[in-house]
Amino acid sequence: MLGVTLSDGAPVCVFNHRGVIGAVGNLCTHAEFLISDGVLHGDGTLECVWHGARFDCRTGAVKRHPAELPLPVYETHEENGRVLVRPWPASHSELSS
Ligand code: FES
Repeated sequence: MLGVTLSDGAPVCVFNHRGVIGAVGNLCTHAEFLISDGVLHGDGTLECVWHGARFDCRTGAVKRHPAELPLPVYETHEENGRVLVRPWPASHSELSS
């Protein structure tokens, strides 16, 4: 996982889960620890290593407390070997359609 800052200042965690590149907000919704310093598990959950919250890397949904709010999810696009991240979070309704 890689922590980056977008042009608008948003902290984002870019990850590769089984060959699929994705991005979520890089601040844990529990107490703002860096998600990129955590662990991406094989089941697709991102674990914050401070207090152990887990989030679905595709949807940002909370999978284990103590976090209660989901992570924002960002659209990504690969172009000429570069990963581009759209500088605003996609809504959950966009992801589910
Ligand atoms: S800061 Fe992430 S679980 Fe507490």
